[in-house]
Amino acid sequence: MSYPRSVKIVEVGPRDGLQNEKTTVDVTTRVELIHQLANAGVSTIEAGSFVSPKWVPQMAGSDQVFAQLTNMTGTIYTALTPNIQGLERAITCGVREVAVFAAASESFSQKNINCSIAESLERFKPVTEKALSAGLSVRGYISCVVGCPYEGTVDVETVYTVAEQLLAMGCYEVSLGDTTGVGTPASITALIIRLLNDITPDKLAIHAHDTYGQALANILCALQLGISTVDSSVAGLGGCPYARGASGNVATEDLVYMLDGLDINHGIELQKLVAAGNYISQKLNRTNGSKVGIALQ
Ligand code: HMG
Ligand code: MG
Repeated sequence: MSYPRSVKIVEVGPRDGLQNEKTTVDVTTRVELIHQLANAGVSTIEAGSFVSPKWVPQMAGSDQVFAQLTNMTGTIYTALTPNIQGLERAITCGVREVAVFAAASESFSQKNINCSIAESLERFKPVTEKALSAGLSVRGYISCVVGCPYEGTVDVETVYTVAEQLLAMGCYEVSLGDTTGVGTPASITALIIRLLNDITPDKLAIHAHDTYGQALANILCALQLGISTVDSSVAGLGGCPYARGASGNVATEDLVYMLDGLDINHGIELQKLVAAGNYISQKLNRTNGSKVGIALQ
């Protein structure tokens, strides 16, 4: 079996994790978590989102979070921007990479960003254009790549069409979101094989929520197919506010442990990462969602 020699981990806990925690965490704690992650060697951290605070109150204050971040050269801090208003906030904060987020399911698109898939892609074009001309990088997400909480099974061709449009408008990479974690090695493998017919693996990332305990197995399949960018969330934080029952992403600690076992480089110090996971779990007064985090306590 062949694997990539190194994997880029995109830590999404401070955004995807905290956006769905019942306890809203203050700006100081968010900044401390992000700095602990950066000190553990995480090179890309999704530090917040510039969305409507009425839609996702947990991400209010992302402007203050970004204003307090240090180590801006060694670490890339990224943010979600659903529209021009969000992008302008990001630019004001000096953010160097933003992400637009589409879906492969109409119902999820409506619930999440209040518009159809086609409308969202139209909206993202000027966002991407303006971001690129301001010197920012733009990542694209697709939610519900194998299943949707409202519509059930999702067609792989829809995922391909959305991915292709995100790449065509200038996203350097598309992250494949298994939002509700319903994917299995079978469905994830079938999806990625289809996408690889037309898209090179360096343009794809895997974003696996662990609701059904399939995340690591799904990521392993993605690695075997040549994907080398993986999203994860320290302490397995979070979920998605518009996908009921969705649990957090794969825990970064568990991913790092698996990559170590496979002798794949990732650049992260596991013990420091575990400490960051413990820190935020205590702040949230919740059990650490990482098995490795618990084992190494
Ligand atoms: P809308 O209500 O259709 O937007 O929301 P609107 O343009 O009519 O604006 C309504 C109000 O929101 C206005 O304020 C705007 O100013 C304000 P009002 O006049 O009522 O006082 N507003 C904003 N405020 C701050 N920043 C902004 C912004 N935009 C509008 N950027 C909108 C449309 C997209 C804004 C809304 O639906 C929204 O914010 N949605 C975000 C939902 C979200 O963040 N979901 C979670 C992230 S996606 C995810 O988790 C999946 C992922 O992890 C991958 C996976 O797992 O699948 C990425
Ligand atoms: Mg997610």
